[in-house]
Amino acid sequence: MKSRDQKSQSSNDLSQFGAAEALFSNDPADLIEKIEAFPKFASRQAIAKFLTKYEIFKRILTVNGSIVECGVLHGAGLLAWAKLSSIFEPANHVRKVIGFDTFGGFPSVAEEDTETGTFNELKKGGLTGSAIDNVLEAVRCMT
Ligand SMILES: C[S@@+](CC[C@H](N)C(=O)[O-])C[C@H]1O[C@@H](n2cnc3c(N)ncnc32)[C@H](O)[C@@H]1O
Repeated sequence: MKSRDQKSQSSNDLSQFGAAEALFSNDPADLIEKIEAFPKFASRQAIAKFLTKYEIFKRILTVNGSIVECGVLHGAGLLAWAKLSSIFEPANHVRKVIGFDTFGGFPSVAEEDTETGTFNELKKGGLTGSAIDNVLEAVRCMT
């Protein structure tokens, strides 16, 4: 199981991820059925992050402008913003959802970052998420 920085996770979280992975693998439903049943498998933390975006999104419905995500990782946030926009403001053709990333993780880290931090991903290439083509494919799947 590869999920985030294992050193930063509690043993409880790690065992929850292991249980979710086994639940997902052992479920005989097909892949699309399992994806559509996402609350069954996603952690409450992942669902809470999505709900937080929903709460923020509701506040900007009457505000003109673009949404910029600095650091796309796997695209969960970027696609959440894009899908919230398509659900709640389908006629807003001027809202842009823009994602920035190196698609190769941290280009470098400064001494100030590493001298006190213990985060495993604090290194060049740390926090590498999905490839840009994969994120672009997810965007194309929306249309
Ligand atoms: C913590 S993750 C972002 C998580 C994401 N916003 C989410 O909600 O799932 C940080 C991302 O920032 C990117 N990143 C780090 N340093 C960067 C830089 N200098 N320029 C662009 N992207 C950078 C990494 O590649 C990584 O994908």
